[in-house]
Amino acid sequence: MKSVKVFCPATVANLSCGFDVLGLCLDSIGDEIIIHKSAAKGIRITKITGEDLPLDIKKNVAGVAAQALLDELDIDFGFDIEIHKKIKPGSGIGSSAASAAGAVFGLNELLGKPFTRKELVYFAMKGEALASGSEHADNVAPALLGGFTLIRGYNPLDIIRIESPPDLYATVVHPQIELKTSEMRAVLKPEVSLKSAISQWGNLGGFISGLYTHDYDLISRSLHDEIVEPLRSVFIPNFKEVKTKAMESGSLGVGISGSGPSIFTLNKGIENAQNVSFAIEKVFSKTDIPFEIHISKINPDGIRLIN
Ligand code: HSE
Repeated sequence: MKSVKVFCPATVANLSCGFDVLGLCLDSIGDEIIIHKSAAKGIRITKITGEDLPLDIKKNVAGVAAQALLDELDIDFGFDIEIHKKIKPGSGIGSSAASAAGAVFGLNELLGKPFTRKELVYFAMKGEALASGSEHADNVAPALLGGFTLIRGYNPLDIIRIESPPDLYATVVHPQIELKTSEMRAVLKPEVSLKSAISQWGNLGGFISGLYTHDYDLISRSLHDEIVEPLRSVFIPNFKEVKTKAMESGSLGVGISGSGPSIFTLNKGIENAQNVSFAIEKVFSKTDIPFEIHISKINPDGIRLIN
């Protein structure tokens, strides 16, 4: 193989009860990355479309992640990377993760797969560190592995992949304002009360159990966040109303996607996901904030090669 084209899916991190540890992979939106093997050593980003982002590999998440992988190997050729952005940076659906994951996945394919997908998470996290100041894996893990992922531990990295129940659909609204993950991390408090922690780990356990047993009611009961959501939701237009209307339309749960401004909902069945989408559309149509809505099945495969 001399070149590869990669579909780099968007992701939803945190999922209310799993700040920095839970994520899911979307199917209906993602970046495209094309990587060519080159006789010249090292990494170059030769083209970016869709967004105005730096070509300098030290300032671009894809470049940083790709370089982290290359540093582990001794090879006498290099790679030229083209990035075609479809996911807006600062949207809360894993834009930086998609680029970082795409770069390391594509390189790994061209190198004959020296690393597993789980091992690639480690390199992709280096890109996340550039974007947000923290090496969180809750977007890059679901992007690379598909389905749902739980980061059981960061040191050492211990990732558990969980298959999605068959009827689960995400409806995600992206109000077109930008919220920087680094800034949204800065609004968080470094400590939580024991009462909130008890509620959060109860919900996280319930959510994971609901995924394994396909218990949609348990999933719904577990989608709560009393630690991060109250601090971040004030920056998200229409958050409360979207939550109320989506729940009235039968959604299983509603929360902030990653660090926002996107809002995710989980729904049982495509029809329900569409009803929730209509309800959200009504809320945003009353305002002058541009928005996009994505309805997506949970992507079981994660990142993939395309023709
Ligand atoms: N867990 C990260 C955060 C995800 O919420 O800051 C960022 O997409």
